[in-house]
Amino acid sequence: MEYVRLGSTGLEVSPIALGTWRFGMEHEETGIVETGREEAHELLDAYADRGGNFIDTANVYGGGDSERWIGEWLAERDREQFVVASKVYWSDVSRFDDNLSRKNVRAEVEASLDKLGTDYLDILYLHRFDDETPIERTLRTIDDLVSEGKVHHVGLSTAEAWKLTKGLWKADVNNYEAFTVTQPEYSAVYREPIVDELDQPPEHKEPIAEYLDVCRDQDLAVCPYSPLHGGFLTGKYERVDGEIRAPDGSRAEIDQAFESDYVADAAWNVLEEVRAVATEVEATPAQVSLRWLIDHDDLTIVPIIGARTIDQLDENLGAVDVSLSEDQWERIDAAVDA
Ligand SMILES: NC(=O)c1ccc[n+]([C@@H]2O[C@H](COP(=O)([O-])OP(=O)(O)OC[C@H]3O[C@@H](n4cnc5c(N)ncnc54)[C@H](OP(=O)(O)O)[C@@H]3O)[C@@H](O)[C@H]2O)c1
Repeated sequence: MEYVRLGSTGLEVSPIALGTWRFGMEHEETGIVETGREEAHELLDAYADRGGNFIDTANVYGGGDSERWIGEWLAERDREQFVVASKVYWSDVSRFDDNLSRKNVRAEVEASLDKLGTDYLDILYLHRFDDETPIERTLRTIDDLVSEGKVHHVGLSTAEAWKLTKGLWKADVNNYEAFTVTQPEYSAVYREPIVDELDQPPEHKEPIAEYLDVCRDQDLAVCPYSPLHGGFLTGKYERVDGEIRAPDGSRAEIDQAFESDYVADAAWNVLEEVRAVATEVEATPAQVSLRWLIDHDDLTIVPIIGARTIDQLDENLGAVDVSLSEDQWERIDAAVDA
């Protein structure tokens, strides 16, 4: 696997990161745990065996189990070979939630280090932007953590382009460690920089373009989450008489929010184009969708995949060997507005 430079961090990472959001995730309605401890360790083993080195987690994933299980796994490996990213905003240990105060950030980062069994996080993302705490206070706190060697780089996940810009500006004028990595939700279907928290299918206004312009201009690496739109872009879902038909055990079946979160008319248009291109290049829709993300001009894009099985992982990692023509890339790009 050829590694890529993660923007200005200087880190060399595999071109596809492994997301661990569903490690330990228990669905309230059914009690199903999506990825259990053993499966999580098998997925990490398979990812590392194929050369993967970039692991994405968060303090709150699986109520802390994601970090704990990664920590157990890392204890058997050489920590230095891996780039581990975690996040703060929601709380796993403190009573502060939706919060980027000094108190919450410190408590959560210390707890993340403890669960992961490591002295430092390669990347600490702000999971969301806290509008109540001035961003310079949060950045000052993280700057201290950087000085203490507990955090190496700071990233921003979901936020509007102007908030990303404001954070960069506040870091610059105060000489604090600035964002070098971003993590928006972004896929061939999803083109907004912020998550639509309402139970509505997303509208496709494409404001992500402005967010990506900031990343391009400021040399920020982009690590899109839900790059397969929660599995929709694998092509395993069908629409029959206006209803979604989902394979047994898939996310659409076990996650009540799937249809409202992921499936709008535009999504089916994109999938149709992705499927057509996949046939042309003899790849799968998942591989083409991931390749489409990686192939953005003048941007370092490292998609964070979620995989529940080793077969899914292998299929998705296969995206690195796919190539798209400019015309194929453009057709997928335009399909969201068809
Ligand atoms: N910053 C944030 O706010 C945020 C939010 C969400 C996620 N994330 C990060 O992004 C990562 C990825 O998110 P995601 O899980 O939504 O990504 P995704 O790649 O869009 O969806 C992953 C899901 O799609 C299905 N799938 C994946 N590959 C497949 C294949 N080849 N064939 C068939 N089905 C396949 C699997 O679900 P089923 O088999 O269950 O259908 C899998 O769990 C997370 O783990 C997390 O690290 C960050």
